[in-house]
Amino acid sequence: MSMITPMDDKGIAAAAKALRAGELVAFPTETVYGLGADATNDHAVAGIYEAKGRPSFNPLIVHLPSAREVARYAEMTEIGHKLADRFWPGALTLVLPRLKKDRLSKLVSAGLDTVAVRVPAHGGARDLLRVADRPIAAPSANASGRLSPTEAAHVAASLGEKVTMILDGGPCKVGVESTIIDASGDRPTLLRPGGIAVEAIEDCLGVTLLRAASDDHAPKSPGMLSSHYAPGLPVRLNVTEPNAGEAWLGLGDCPSATLNLSPSGDLREAAANLFIMLHQLDNPRFSAIAIAPIPETGLGLAINDRIRRASYL
Ligand code: TXA
Ligand code: MG
Repeated sequence: MSMITPMDDKGIAAAAKALRAGELVAFPTETVYGLGADATNDHAVAGIYEAKGRPSFNPLIVHLPSAREVARYAEMTEIGHKLADRFWPGALTLVLPRLKKDRLSKLVSAGLDTVAVRVPAHGGARDLLRVADRPIAAPSANASGRLSPTEAAHVAASLGEKVTMILDGGPCKVGVESTIIDASGDRPTLLRPGGIAVEAIEDCLGVTLLRAASDDHAPKSPGMLSSHYAPGLPVRLNVTEPNAGEAWLGLGDCPSATLNLSPSGDLREAAANLFIMLHQLDNPRFSAIAIAPIPETGLGLAINDRIRRASYL
């Protein structure tokens, strides 16, 4: 059973240290409890997906202590600025273009060139973000398919042994997840209704939001698929002997692989490397990206989901 720790100065200092060391820490925000990891650390971010048992790599929200800090990682668009001024800190998440040298793990945004960012209103959460001094990726701290947790005990019941620490800040005031707005372009789009009313957002912007189907589940339409990073080259799966001219992305014992997701076959290491290596191999000097078989266990499910989608496009 993992440690439920009071969210006082001592608890926050210990949690910040654990986050900086690449460990997972559950912490309260005003919406729901989040499962946090250092968003600049690929291995730590892979740990989030492993702990949640997510069968796919849903992009994650990056939490920061101030709008000023957000501007180090994401491009503040005009719409983003307006909404941030009005609703941050608070239950609003903005999807914005990633900055080129943002240092964020590619796994955080599942290879997309946008990133979801939020400045929470919860004082303890902001203290934690300040002391940790890292951007913190955090999905809701529940196992995949379970309800979002609004008390430390919910997190313990759902993820107990999988996190280093659970900071207990009492029940969450808002109790539903943040509203997510895609503010990356000039047509603001509602991606998920949540803690901030849509009317308030439309009132602030003076326009009606476009509506997108919820992004929380596997994309249902090819249009949603296209929003995910897909290599320009054709992708072939379950390849044990690549053709001449193909890049071979190996796993485990593949001595002639162009790159290897994890020579020891560690699926968490493989997840941490997946998007980085797909980008590296997506080069016209190759005819295709051939990917070695990935076991359908643990994070292998999410890796296979992702590369299967890449191979359809
Ligand atoms: O209130 C909340 O938002 C909580 C607390 C912990 O902050 N977090 C939360 O995270 O609900 P999660 O992972 O359960 O939901 C994140 C949502 C997903 O639906 C994901 O698809 C969407 O954000 N998302 C993240 N990055 C995105 C991006 N670049 N483009 C579009 N959608 C994105
Ligand atoms: Mg969730």
